Amino acid sequence: MKQPLVRLAVIAALMALGAIGACAQDDTAALYKSKCQICHGPDGKGSAVGAKLGVKDFHSPEVAKMSDQELFEITKKGRDKMPGYDKKLTDDQIKALVKYIRSLK
Ligand code: HEC
Repeated sequence: MKQPLVRLAVIAALMALGAIGACAQDDTAALYKSKCQICHGPDGKGSAVGAKLGVKDFHSPEVAKMSDQELFEITKKGRDKMPGYDKKLTDDQIKALVKYIRSLK
C-alpha cells in the first residue's frame, strides 16, 4: 500500500536535487554579473572600466595557458588592480566562477 507514496517521495527528491543543481549554475552567473562584470564584461572580454585597469580578455592565450589553480588564486587573493575575494566568496564559489569564466564564449 505504501509503495506508490515512496516512489512519489523519491521522484520529488530527485526533482528537488535537479532544481538545486540548476540553481547553483544560475547563482554563479548572477555572482559573475554582480561582482565581476563591471570590469571583466558580460562576455569576459573586459569592460571599458576594466580596460583602463588592465584586464585581459579571458579568451586571450595568456589567460588560456594559466591553470585553473592560478585563476583561483588570483580571484581569491587579488593581483594588482584586481580585488581579492578571499573574505567575500567561499572557495567553492570561486571554483565555480573559474569554471564559468572558462565557459564564456
Ligand atoms: C575592479 C575591477 C575588477 C573586478 C570587479 C574584478 N576583476 Fe578580475 N581582474 C581585474 C584586473 C585589472 C585584472 C588583471 C590583473 C593583472 O593581470 O595584474 C584581473 C584579473 C583577473 C583574473 C586573472 C586572469 C586575467 O585576466 O589576468 C581572473 C581569473 C579574474 N580577474 C577573475 C575575476 C572574478 C571571478 C571576479 C569577480 C568575483 C573579478 N575578477 C572581478 C579587475 C577586476
